[in-house]
Amino acid sequence: MSDRKGIILAGGSGTRLYPITMGVSKQILPIYDKPMIYYPLSVLMLAGIREIAVITTPEDQAQFQRFMGDGNQWGLEFTWIEQPSPDGLAQAYLLAEEFLDGSPSLMVLGDNLFFGHGLPEILARADAKPEGGTVFGYRVADPERYGVVDFDEDGQVRAIVEKPDMPPSSFAVTGLYALDGTAPEKAARVTPSERNELEITALLEQYLAEDKLTVEVMGRGYAWLDTGTHESLLDAGNFVRTLQQRQGLQMGSPDEIAFNMGWISRADLEKRAKLFGKNDYGRYLLGLQ
Ligand code: G1P
Repeated sequence: MSDRKGIILAGGSGTRLYPITMGVSKQILPIYDKPMIYYPLSVLMLAGIREIAVITTPEDQAQFQRFMGDGNQWGLEFTWIEQPSPDGLAQAYLLAEEFLDGSPSLMVLGDNLFFGHGLPEILARADAKPEGGTVFGYRVADPERYGVVDFDEDGQVRAIVEKPDMPPSSFAVTGLYALDGTAPEKAARVTPSERNELEITALLEQYLAEDKLTVEVMGRGYAWLDTGTHESLLDAGNFVRTLQQRQGLQMGSPDEIAFNMGWISRADLEKRAKLFGKNDYGRYLLGLQ
């Protein structure tokens, strides 16, 4: 069991997905058969984390709470935190400082989907490091859209550059950050960037300067999916549908993970399944052994 606390950053205005996100938070949109936030939540659960802060805009918080509650249905404990304005990813550590109370954390962006055999193992490897930080590099065809890892000749990380015009490598930094308890004080030292945000890369650079940043490469067997555009949103949904249909297994199911982890009983699971009784998801939960 990890003593790491989890953070899901689900704020932001989602303007790139307008007009859809004019009426609903991006992280509530469906990825095939589940709300988007189920998928990053599942990643934190696979890392063994049960105390989770969910950061949303003040306007959207009640809507998230309507389907996520206090987390008890999954054996979790949610702390709801408001982000009044989306001032960058590093801000999450300032908002969550009291919640973290000095603990190490695993933060995941509420619109990031991860899938791959061995995910729990690489999360456990990151968790085993009491000091410093671990981020995950993933090869993409369009690194200029992301934070990008600059490796030196020996494969050591030299820098992480935010949305560079000339990407130093094809490895983007994914929206999953395992940082030690010093993250909030480091976040407090970050000053706004040109796009007026407290950049996560500026926070990571401080770990790098202390020689305490590990970049784990997620190999080609993993999927890291983006949901930032209408096309990628649909692609992510199709990916989930294709895999689930082929394997007969669910992706991103907090209900299944909670049951497998032993955090909820069979009776709890059956109660949940009844809510979805008539659909495939409900039938799937009832069939779990
Ligand atoms: C943010 C980070 C970037 C990271 C990306 C992952 O970008 O700033 O470093 O690669 O998330 O999704 P943003 O979503 O703010 O454009």
